Amino acid sequence: MSDLMTIIKERRSIRKYKSDPLPKELIDRIMEAGVFAASGMGKQAPIIIAVTNRELRDKIAEENRKIGGWEEGFDPFYGAPVILIVASNLDARTAVYDGSVTLGNMMLMAHELGLSTCWIHRAKEEFASDFGKEILDSLGIEGDYEGVGHLALGYIDGDMPAAHPRKPGRTFYIE
Ligand SMILES: Cc1cc2nc3c(=O)[nH]c(=O)nc-3n(C[C@H](O)[C@H](O)[C@H](O)COP(=O)(O)O)c2cc1C
Repeated sequence: MSDLMTIIKERRSIRKYKSDPLPKELIDRIMEAGVFAASGMGKQAPIIIAVTNRELRDKIAEENRKIGGWEEGFDPFYGAPVILIVASNLDARTAVYDGSVTLGNMMLMAHELGLSTCWIHRAKEEFASDFGKEILDSLGIEGDYEGVGHLALGYIDGDMPAAHPRKPGRTFYIE
C-alpha cells in the first residue's frame, strides 16, 4: 500500500477535538493543499478562509447550529479550534465541484500532518445570508460566492475510529 493510500484509508471524520490552538504553519500547509486542487477549466474558483478567531468561530458554530435545527448548546464543529471555510465563485460553472475537491485535498493533508477534520455542511445557507456576506465583506472579497463546506480542524480528542466497511459493487470495468 502506498503512503497516499494509507492516508486515504485512515482519514476519518472526527467529532471530538482538543481545544489546543494549531501552529499556523500547519494551517498554511493544509490551505496550500486546498489551493492546489483541480478546478474546472483551471479557473481556481474556490477561496479558503481559516477562522482561528475564537469569537467568530463560535458565531459560525451558532449560525450553523441554527440552520441545522439542533438544540441550543450543541457545537456542530465538535469543539475544533479552527474552521476552514470553502466558498466558490459562481462565475465558474463548476464552482461547487471545485470547492469539493478543495475540501477533499485539505482533509487528506490534515490527516497527513497528524490533524483531524470533519466536513461540516450548511455553508451554502450560511453564505447566502447576511451573516456570511458580512464575513466576505470584512475580507474585501467581492463577487458572487456560494458556500461549499467547512472543515472542523484540530487535534483529535480520543482514538481514531475505524473505517466503515465499504459497500461492495461500487466499482465497474467496461473492457
Ligand atoms: C458533503 C458532506 C457533508 C457532511 N456534513 C457533515 C456534517 O454536517 N456534520 C458531520 O458531523 N459530518 C458531516 N460529514 C461527514 C460524514 O458524515 C462522514 O464523512 C461519513 O460519516 C463517513 O465517515 P468518514 O469520513 O470517517 O469516512 C459530511 C461529509 C460530506 C462528504
